[in-house]
Amino acid sequence: MERSDVFAIIRYRRSVREYDPRPIEDWKLDLILESARLAPSSTNSQPWRIIVVKDAALKTTLSDATPASINRHPWFEKAPVILVLCTVKSGTQKFAQFLGKNYQLVDMGIVGEHIVLTAAELGLGTCWVGWVHKSHIKKVLSIPTNWEVACIIPVGYPKGESIPREKVYEKFSTVAPRQLEGEAGIGNTPANKRRSIDEIIFHEKVKK
Ligand SMILES: Cc1cc2nc3c(=O)[nH]c(=O)nc-3n(C[C@H](O)[C@H](O)[C@H](O)COP(=O)(O)O)c2cc1C
Repeated sequence: MERSDVFAIIRYRRSVREYDPRPIEDWKLDLILESARLAPSSTNSQPWRIIVVKDAALKTTLSDATPASINRHPWFEKAPVILVLCTVKSGTQKFAQFLGKNYQLVDMGIVGEHIVLTAAELGLGTCWVGWVHKSHIKKVLSIPTNWEVACIIPVGYPKGESIPREKVYEKFSTVAPRQLEGEAGIGNTPANKRRSIDEIIFHEKVKK
């Protein structure tokens, strides 16, 4: 059968911006955090540090860390958990950077994607939030000066209705028909438009 369960979750994931405030089960959070721990990284440097924020007052303060001048996100404080992804430079990374290879943000992208995909598989919505006031977050969460905030990811049940897990695999695990703009994913969230395969994939040479 030409199908993939991992692909089904990739296709089903969306950026969720409306959350049901009910708490998420501890075992689900454990799986999400363990999927982060297992992410690959350049020279196995594992430069991520993740802060799990559940406290309501802290979440509101985090929400205030997205000033109107950037792009305020009052919605994400409704999520029961907010993960703050930080990066810390290791010795090997400093050396790699010296050689002109800076993979630190690549590593952070991979760990974040492990988080959002595992969450989606467990019926949980997430959203990468990069437009944040990083220095404010550092202060509020007592983050050490040599760590840098990479992004924050709220995690929670979407407000909109999701489809049962077995149906997700049934519906989304094949390429055809290709996803079109608006396809309903987790939390009944419509898909954003994607570039066509021909625009982004090249075989052998870019110009024939
Ligand atoms: C690094 C990164 C930063 C992002 N920052 C924000 C953000 O600050 N606010 C927001 O609402 N969405 C943010 N997004 C979500 C994107 O807007 C979203 O992934 C994109 O529109 C595609 O939609 P989809 O995730 O539903 O497929 C960010 C995504 C990434 C990968």
